[in-house]
Amino acid sequence: MTQDKLIRRVLKPVVWVLCLGPLGGLAWLAYSGGLTANPIEFLNRYLGEWALKFVIFALAITPLRGLTGWAGLTRFRRLLGLFAFFYVVLHLSSYVGLDQYFDWNAIWLDITKRTYITVGMVAAVILLALAVTSTKGMIKRIGGKNWNRLHKLVYLAAAAGCLHFFMMRKGVQLEPLMYGGAVLLLLGYRLVGYLKKRRRKSRLAVA
Ligand code: HEM
Repeated sequence: MTQDKLIRRVLKPVVWVLCLGPLGGLAWLAYSGGLTANPIEFLNRYLGEWALKFVIFALAITPLRGLTGWAGLTRFRRLLGLFAFFYVVLHLSSYVGLDQYFDWNAIWLDITKRTYITVGMVAAVILLALAVTSTKGMIKRIGGKNWNRLHKLVYLAAAAGCLHFFMMRKGVQLEPLMYGGAVLLLLGYRLVGYLKKRRRKSRLAVA
């Protein structure tokens, strides 16, 4: 089997099933009575955390490719990014429907008055833009260079997602710090790569 076939026929379906795992976990918790005494809060937080995890998984592809040398990993990035958006949509839907009962005035007040909600909104809007422009047709339309530039906004979305989490929890808590640390590490890897590339270029220009 060629690598392309292996990815398309075996690995991608496996990754799809794994990405749907958190929903299966939720169904199991609902069935076994594990949604806690405050199921709406639990559901919202569970979906928010999975959204952020998938942003981190998508960001981890580039460093993993660098470390393993397997270029095929890049074929999973779009899928992971779209799953991040999928969980954001569910997180947002649970907030709008179950937490706020579609009270659009209250939602607007929340977005404009509570900074952590505003920050979450920024991350959600960026992820929406990235999901909409993730198709091959869109890459062609926008042009590869502009598309690359636009998709760098995922760094901002990841940072905003972490800040949203950190601000939402009162005081300094370990969990949001761990997510923030993971994002810092992943962005740091890119920064180091970028600085190395620049140094190499300037050395070549001098030579
Ligand atoms: C319009 C956009 C968003 C809104 C209105 C929103 C709303 C909320 C609300 C109300 C909570 C707190 C729930 C509570 O107090 O129990 C929350 C928590 C959270 N949200 Fe969002 N959110 C948005 C976008 C996002 C995005 C884009 C991400 C990730 C990429 C995200 C990740 C999280 C996380 C990780 C938590 C904390 C979960 C926990 O405490 O375990 N949210 N969000």
